[in-house]
Amino acid sequence: MAQFFGEEFLHELRSRVDIVSVVEQYVTLKRSSSSSMVGLCPFHNEKTPSFHVDGQKQLFYCFGCGAGGDAITFLMKMQNMSYPEAVTFLAESVGMTVPTRDTFDSEITQLRKTILEMNKKAARFFHECLFRPEGQKALEYITRRGLSKNTLIRFGIGYSPAGWTGLYEKLREWGYKDEQIKASGLVITPQKNDGRSRIFDRFRDRVMFPIIDANGNVIGFGGRSMDPNDPAKYLNSPEVITFRKGNNLYALNYAKSTKKDCLILCEGYMDVIAMHQAGFDNAVAGLGTALTPEQGRLLKKYTDRVVLCYDNDEAGRKATQRSMQVLSSLDLNVRVLTLRGGKDPDEIIKNEGRAFFQALVDGSETGMDFRLNEIFRKYDLSIDSQRVQCSNEVFDLLASIRQDAQREIYASRAGKRLELTDETVKRELNRRLRNLERLRKKQQEKEESNKLRGVGDRINPQRMTYLRAARAEEDLISVLLAFPEKAEKIAAQLPPEEFVTDFNRRVYMALLEQIRQNPTASEPGLLLTQYFQPDEMGRIVSFISSCEAIRGDEKEILRAIEVLKEEKTKIDRRAAGGDDAFAANLERLRNKRKEAKE
Ligand code: UTP
Ligand code: MN
Repeated sequence: MAQFFGEEFLHELRSRVDIVSVVEQYVTLKRSSSSSMVGLCPFHNEKTPSFHVDGQKQLFYCFGCGAGGDAITFLMKMQNMSYPEAVTFLAESVGMTVPTRDTFDSEITQLRKTILEMNKKAARFFHECLFRPEGQKALEYITRRGLSKNTLIRFGIGYSPAGWTGLYEKLREWGYKDEQIKASGLVITPQKNDGRSRIFDRFRDRVMFPIIDANGNVIGFGGRSMDPNDPAKYLNSPEVITFRKGNNLYALNYAKSTKKDCLILCEGYMDVIAMHQAGFDNAVAGLGTALTPEQGRLLKKYTDRVVLCYDNDEAGRKATQRSMQVLSSLDLNVRVLTLRGGKDPDEIIKNEGRAFFQALVDGSETGMDFRLNEIFRKYDLSIDSQRVQCSNEVFDLLASIRQDAQREIYASRAGKRLELTDETVKRELNRRLRNLERLRKKQQEKEESNKLRGVGDRINPQRMTYLRAARAEEDLISVLLAFPEKAEKIAAQLPPEEFVTDFNRRVYMALLEQIRQNPTASEPGLLLTQYFQPDEMGRIVSFISSCEAIRGDEKEILRAIEVLKEEKTKIDRRAAGGDDAFAANLERLRNKRKEAKE
């Protein structure tokens, strides 16, 4: 794997970042010793804290689930960041500039930059066209739909001319090459009969909505047709290297700095724009897709409260259910706004005004109420059998509420609706809670017994089979970690091929490599972050923490090497021995047959 950042930079970063304050953004920590803090592990469910953060070593480790690593690993796991993302994030948080592009700039990053530049110019071009004679029809259309001049400017709304190559010619004029233009998605290249292709504008005769990400980049476009008979009402940019629909939200560039305490997620471009114009500057839209986990995480970056505002039809309710699942698994507080007085927010604001819409926002129901109502909608409670089915579903849902008080409140309300006595409600609920608890226990027991038997050691699956060898390998790794100066000596006596388990061999090789490259680094283990997955780092940190028991003297090293060689020979012989025995047996059989024939 390529080394993304220089050692000097990483060293500086490590000296400036304090893992304790990074972790404390997510986990409440208490001091447990002079150098160590503990808290509840954010990576698995637990009631007693087994998550340790060592401020001196700048490492974390969870004794419950084995997660571990440094501040970079922590962010990678916690925020689902890639290694360079986590490094960049940390660097920015301590005011360091990330080494500039030329150290790790690739063709792709260059192309990405070029496309973003083209998009920005294209957006400006479309916007200008809206106010030229050829854009008059579009300007009338969008004005008729109630957008003010200010809004047109704020959202950069534009018009793509009806000709076939208006934008393409401009792009050429600005000096872009066909390859770059094609990669931007701004054009289409239909094949002609002779197999050659020509280049045309993708967007023609449409009202254009630039899609701008949270960093202010124009990453794509949506184009609204003005022809009611057009089968494609909206045409969107295709997914190109700068544009992943599922990773972005429309208008987040503005909504991210709202003063309001929630973000409103709605369906369409026009809805969002109408809402912003009416003062709801916290509205964003998914880009015609069901809410993805990435979009959920994006929302969570800016708020912990989301109001879902999908159209009030079957498709909208389905999307609400799905989005709610995505959002609640991220621990976001979700409410659902039910639209009345029009088919979408744009229409409602136009028909009923902003105060009416504000009332809808204020009256939005909790996610739980929405889900309960969705169940109730399906059944006719005046029919006994349906009432039974309905209450079964309702109690299943209620049992999943984790907070006692919340569960009780919803249960008592649902019970009244189902016309059940408090006693019945309590009994039904308790039965389910007990079942859940039993299931959870079983699951836990299974996991624990698996752990004991070494099943499911996903980090080093060979460890349990070759335990004695693996332990010797780990001793040697610990020696390298604690006494990097012994690396050459050990390497000379023990080539990596002698390692039995693959994971430990990888650690060994990476460590030797790191020590060779940075002979003065005092904590070579920390340099491994860039080569290993966050889960693997957990194991490496557990090696680092066991270093204290390592003396690193000759005897200890020789002993480990000896054990490892012994085991290796045994394993090799067993593998070969199997075949030898088989061959010998065969030989014997053949001889016997020969004898019989004679
Ligand atoms: P709607 O069909 O509800 O349109 O699509 P709308 O937002 O109310 O648009 P107007 O008011 O008729 O202009 C909702 C969203 O779904 C995506 C767009 O993002 C749109 O804003 N969509 C819809 C498409 O991507 N393509 C389409 O053809 C239709
Ligand atoms: Mn609409």
